[in-house]
Amino acid sequence: MPATVIAGTQWGDEGKGKVTDVFAEQVDYVVRYQGGNNAGHTIVIGDERFALTLIPSGVLNPGVTPIIGNGTVIDPKVLLDEMAALEQRQVDVSLVRLSANAHLIMPYHRKIDALQERFLGSGQIGTTKRGIGPAYTDKFSRHGIRVQDLFDPKIFRDKLDAALKEKNKILVKIYNQLPMEAAAIADEYLEYGRRLTGHVTDTALLLADALAAGKEVLFEGAQGTLLDVDHGTYPFVTSSNPTAGGATIGSGIGPTAIDRVVGVTKAYISRVGSGPFPTELDDAVGETMVDVGGEYGTVTGRRRRCGWLDAVALRYATRINGLTEIALTKIDVLSEFDTLRICIAYQAAGERFEEMPRQQRVLYRCEPVYEDLPGWKTDISQAESFDDLPPAALDYIARVEKIAGVPVSMVSVGPQRKATLTR
Ligand code: GDP
Ligand code: IMO
Ligand code: MG
Repeated sequence: MPATVIAGTQWGDEGKGKVTDVFAEQVDYVVRYQGGNNAGHTIVIGDERFALTLIPSGVLNPGVTPIIGNGTVIDPKVLLDEMAALEQRQVDVSLVRLSANAHLIMPYHRKIDALQERFLGSGQIGTTKRGIGPAYTDKFSRHGIRVQDLFDPKIFRDKLDAALKEKNKILVKIYNQLPMEAAAIADEYLEYGRRLTGHVTDTALLLADALAAGKEVLFEGAQGTLLDVDHGTYPFVTSSNPTAGGATIGSGIGPTAIDRVVGVTKAYISRVGSGPFPTELDDAVGETMVDVGGEYGTVTGRRRRCGWLDAVALRYATRINGLTEIALTKIDVLSEFDTLRICIAYQAAGERFEEMPRQQRVLYRCEPVYEDLPGWKTDISQAESFDDLPPAALDYIARVEKIAGVPVSMVSVGPQRKATLTR
């Protein structure tokens, strides 16, 4: 029953795609359990670069069955386009399986996402405008339309008509927009359904059977702990549970099947979109992190905000996810700096915080308390094992282990699949 979860410990973009791709060499199934095409997971193999948004990163490993679980929200056009683009590059997508219970992102979800953001003005969340929040809203208010509904035109049309009765009032009366036409949406979506037929199944049953047969299952989180709707910096979060617990709900596999939880941690930290960020750097160091780390969004191309590693957040993520280990990524980017900093606590209004403040309003005022470590100032991107790393880099890794209280089992020194050190 060996199942492993890979989850981001920060605000996303930690390198989960790369780490998943490396782990996928040894597993049979890779499962996305939450989120949708708000995710952007980049994988570099040789001269080829893949940017995946919905299809699990395991797809690049022949023989792996990529599963898109019930906890995700699916924009069917994006999924079909992503499969077609992969096929064009000779990647086999025939094994991709999609849960019949996953919810659909509808055109009005995308529209309302963008309109809600516009109306929030300076208070906007900075969403990816992919309709993620509105699709999950409909799921939980029980007005959602699911993948399985694509296969019954009458049910699909009934649900769509019911939804549009409300959505069109919102679009016209609140947002001053034109109403949407049910017939056109139904034609479009039912055609997507026809094209997806062979891929849709009961993925919870498929995974249960696989685990019973001794197969290895890997769960690939999207987003990160601090973007979790329950445990993140609400309301500047996404609308799902990227944390490890989400893997069970979003796949239909019980928690007892999971024996390993890998927290993907970037050696510094980034955030795209709005919200508090205690270690954010508005200086030349932050600029260097963006430039050297290539910190621009895979999905929206937005510049990511960058700052030093936040140990308060990392300890929090270790606890919330029940991490058994850490995969430390992009440590090569730190080669640029003479001195490295880790935020070991926060300071606000004369009080010191070793844990995330209970009141989020305090987090906005938190100043980081830094510990300085010497840099190594040598190129480590060609390292092939831990033995090839300079002592200062090994010290940095040891410090991360001490802070988190779990081992760093993998270190990534470049975007390439082979730029990965394990122990
Ligand atoms: P994800 O959303 O967590 O999968 O992360 P992204 O793919 O959005 O962002 C991570 C970026 O860093 C991608 O462009 C990766 O190719 C790149 N990357 C991953 N690991 C490393 C690493 O160890 N070093 C460097 N320099 N780049 C990396
Ligand atoms: P990966 O999987 C970084 C952020 C958005 C916004 C907030 C809500 O690549 O790490 P949403 O569209 O989900 O309603 O936006 O969450 N966000 C991400 N930030 N990486 C991601 O995914 C993200 N997915 C959503 O920028 O702040
Ligand atoms: Mg990303």
